[in-house]
Amino acid sequence: MEASVHNKKDRRTMKTFTTLCLSILTFSAVLTLESAKADDEFSPSRAPVEATRQMIVAGHPLAAEAGLEMLREGGSAADAAIAAQMVLNLVEPQSSGIGGGGFLLHYSAANAFVNAYDGRETAPAAATPDRFLDENSQPRSRADVIPGGLSVGVPGLVAMLELVHADHGVLPWARLFEPAIELAENGFPVSERLSRLLSEAGPDLFAASARAYFFDESGTARPSGFILKNPELADTLRRIATKGGDGFYLGEIARDIAVAVRSSATNPGDMTPQDIADYVAHRRQPVCGRYQRRTICGMGPPSSGALTILQTLALAERPFMGRQFSARALHLVAEAGKLAFADRNRFIADSDFVDIPDLLDPDYLSERRNLISTSRTMGRAEAGTPPDAPRAGRDGTRTSPGTTHLSVVDADGNAVALTSTIETRFGSRVMVRGFLLNNELTDFSFAFEDDEGSPIANRVEPGKRPRSSMAPTLVFAPEGDLEMVLGAPGGSLIIPYVVKAIIGHVDWSLDAQTIVELPNFAGRNRAFEIEERYANMPVIDQLRALGHEIRTQPMPSGLNVIIRKSDGRLEGGADPRREGMAAGD
Ligand code: DON
Repeated sequence: MEASVHNKKDRRTMKTFTTLCLSILTFSAVLTLESAKADDEFSPSRAPVEATRQMIVAGHPLAAEAGLEMLREGGSAADAAIAAQMVLNLVEPQSSGIGGGGFLLHYSAANAFVNAYDGRETAPAAATPDRFLDENSQPRSRADVIPGGLSVGVPGLVAMLELVHADHGVLPWARLFEPAIELAENGFPVSERLSRLLSEAGPDLFAASARAYFFDESGTARPSGFILKNPELADTLRRIATKGGDGFYLGEIARDIAVAVRSSATNPGDMTPQDIADYVAHRRQPVCGRYQRRTICGMGPPSSGALTILQTLALAERPFMGRQFSARALHLVAEAGKLAFADRNRFIADSDFVDIPDLLDPDYLSERRNLISTSRTMGRAEAGTPPDAPRAGRDGTRTSPGTTHLSVVDADGNAVALTSTIETRFGSRVMVRGFLLNNELTDFSFAFEDDEGSPIANRVEPGKRPRSSMAPTLVFAPEGDLEMVLGAPGGSLIIPYVVKAIIGHVDWSLDAQTIVELPNFAGRNRAFEIEERYANMPVIDQLRALGHEIRTQPMPSGLNVIIRKSDGRLEGGADPRREGMAAGD
């Protein structure tokens, strides 16, 4: 078993290496669709934040401040990210925390090296592929299985951040916990967004301790501005600060997590203290590819983030993409997205359990690119046949909002892109010692085979990591310098959000604030999705004329981006759809 796992990993590493070495061909296809005249130039609500030395963009101002405090003390990008993440656990509890997991990309300026870290949750040893099926072997609804213990994966964030700190930390580990401990003890003002999300969720599905923390006795959500204290979390963080990962994965905290999961009144689960003690965060090979002469690196399996972003960009790439928000550009990106999502849904899962074909093989990409017409939408795309494609069933897994992204560049030019999550808003709604537990296991496919009996790559298996869409991303300029640090929350919409931001900067030369604020759109192999408030843009009618079915919805992206200019200046953009802030010196 051990050997076969390593063989798979080695093969994957070879494939990734091949990918790294091959440039994606630029296409000579002659494009027929006229570049539609752009709508009025898009104006962002504010200017980007500028800095010359160091910068952090995080999902909450208090988290950005904690990160900047570390940078000012001479801390590294890794130190700042860890301090900010601990504050996010407290002030943005709906999105991320030590009860969940994440992925982190690190760039070391001294040796121009990119590391990828995997802190994804794992399924307990007792998990089986029928975990989310009802007594008639039919998939249960997501809403039914999210609350309680069954959806909780073994948390990975603490182990991953400990590994990152060992590799790249400068300040003492315990120092990084001080801002969060202080805020947890003295209290922080509940934000407007947190209060609203609590009101929308209502108290009923929360386990008792979470309900008492987030709601008053009558069941009313803590109002915006209410000073909320979390002494239990302060105690938990102090233990981790003192004992490191062992303080979390061994002993009382681990015991309490297992008890809360197993004794949950709703959907009791099967996690044991041994599952928690066995958790390992991984260093993985980053997945890198080329787009418009840049090199783009991101997180490979178990995330679909980088592979699907790189496929989308490679399939959409043309010598001239089309003007900002022209029908041509939106059509190309949406069609490319359809093809990439069809492959994602069939082939991508935890590569320690399944073989993933080379989705970035240049010949395969050329073949797929030829499926894109510039005069008509292809409608629904089917998965392709990449080299060595395994027999795999189509997977209809869906995800929904509850994640955060932060980007950091330190004074030495090192960078961190960290996306972390407890999956949906407030995760499983089970609280242990002041933090919420994730519902990450609902990112697995609920069915384990498709209608034709083909096994679904992303089915539940013991010890496996559910497929993610999280996409912490680093973009390098043609000369090799770091150019962008970015990522977003949003479930599988993370992928089109990051694609939009990269195209916004690379093809349309827009600044960091403008690219995050551009209207969100997606081609996830469903309809053409456009952010609700932009549904009446004239370009939407042009897309209808190309045959696109249009779907409008809220798309609250939370893109947090740093652009590093060629002269070294830093530009930060925080998404006003959430509460993020850019801060730097
Ligand atoms: O790992 C994933 O892809 C999902 N669990 C992320 C969920 C998410 O981004 C929700 N965001 N708002």
